[in-house]
Amino acid sequence: MIKGCVLGIESSCDETSAAVVLNGRTVLSNIISSQIEIHKRFGGVVPEIASRNHTLIIENVVKEALDVAKITLEDVEGIAVTYGAGLQGALLVGLTFAKGLSFATGKKFMGVNHIMGHIAANYISHKDLKPPFICLVVSGGHTAIVHIKSYTSHEVLGSTLDDAVGEAFDKVARCLNLPYPGGPNIDRLAADGKNNIIFPKMLKNDKGYNFSYSGLKTAVINYLHNLEQKDEKPVIQDVCASFQSAAVDVLVKKAILACKEKNIPKLACAGGVSANSYLRKKLRENCLEEEISLYLPEMVLCTDNAAMIAAEGYIKMINGQLDGTDLNVEPSLRI
Ligand code: KG4
Ligand code: ZN
Repeated sequence: MIKGCVLGIESSCDETSAAVVLNGRTVLSNIISSQIEIHKRFGGVVPEIASRNHTLIIENVVKEALDVAKITLEDVEGIAVTYGAGLQGALLVGLTFAKGLSFATGKKFMGVNHIMGHIAANYISHKDLKPPFICLVVSGGHTAIVHIKSYTSHEVLGSTLDDAVGEAFDKVARCLNLPYPGGPNIDRLAADGKNNIIFPKMLKNDKGYNFSYSGLKTAVINYLHNLEQKDEKPVIQDVCASFQSAAVDVLVKKAILACKEKNIPKLACAGGVSANSYLRKKLRENCLEEEISLYLPEMVLCTDNAAMIAAEGYIKMINGQLDGTDLNVEPSLRI
C-alpha cells in the first residue's frame, strides 16, 4: 500500500472521471471521458442518458486511471467519490461503483462534496497554497464566495440568490443558438466582440456577497427579442462580450472585496467558469493592483475531473472523516 495514495471517482454530470493522486497534491493520472458529443444534439445534459453512459464506461475509466498511474487497486490507501451535488442517477453510478470497490478491498472510503472538490483543485495546481484563503466558486450549479478557514472548515460568505453564473452562460448561449456547453463558446466569441451593450450588473453595488443572474439572463433575452421584432440581427460577438463583462465584473468586485474585508490577501477560484479567459484576465489585473496573491487552477482542473475529488478525499482521509457503505447520494448537497 502506498501511503497517501487516493483513487478518486467523479460522475456527477456528464464527465466520467477517475484519477490517482498522491498526498492530495500530485496527480499520477486523471482520466476524463466526456459525454459532450452525446448530449450536444439535445442542447444540454439528458440525465438518463448520462447515467447510462457512466455505467457503460466507468469500469474502463477506473482501470485506465490505475494503469496510467502504474499501480493496482491494492496500492491505494483510500477511495474518494463524489456523492453530491449533481444528477441523482449519474451520482449513483460513481458512488455505487466506489462502494463496491471499497467493500471488496477494505480500503478507506470517503464521500466528497463536488464543490469542495473544485476548491481542492487549487491544492494540486499550487503546491504552496494553504488556508486561510478566499475562494470564488463559479460552476454550472454554484456561485459563491467562500472563506476557507482551514483544510476542514469554511464559511460561505455569500452565494447566488437565483441562477448560477455557469447556468447563465449556458442559457444565454442557447438563446444565441450556440452549441452546448455554452460557456466556452461565449468565451471564444466574446474575444472578437465589443462590450457595447449595457446589461445590468445585478447586485454589483450591494454591500454583501450575494449574486443574482436571472435578471441578466432576462435582459439578454429581451435585447434579442427587441432586435428580432425590428427584423434586425444581433452582432453575436458583441452580445457575448457585453454579457460576459456584466456577468464577470460583479464576481471580481465581490471576490476582491471579501479579501480586503476579511484581511486575507489570498484569492483562489474554483469551478468550470474559472476557465473563462476574461474572468482570469480581470482577476489577474485586479489582484495585482490590490496586492492579492491569486491562485487559479490549471485549465484541465477547472471543469469536472476526478483528481480534484481525490485531493479533497485525501484531506478527509487524513482527518479521519471516513464514510461507510451506507452513504447515499445527495443531489442537492450544499457547501
Ligand atoms: O464545474 P463544472 O464543470 O460543472 C459543475 O460543477 O457545474 O462547470 C460547468 C460550467 C458550465 O456552465 C460551462 O458552461 C461553464 O462551466 N464553463 C465556462 C467556460 N468553461 C466552462 N463558462 C465560461 N467560460 C468558459 N471558458
Ligand atoms: Zn463541477
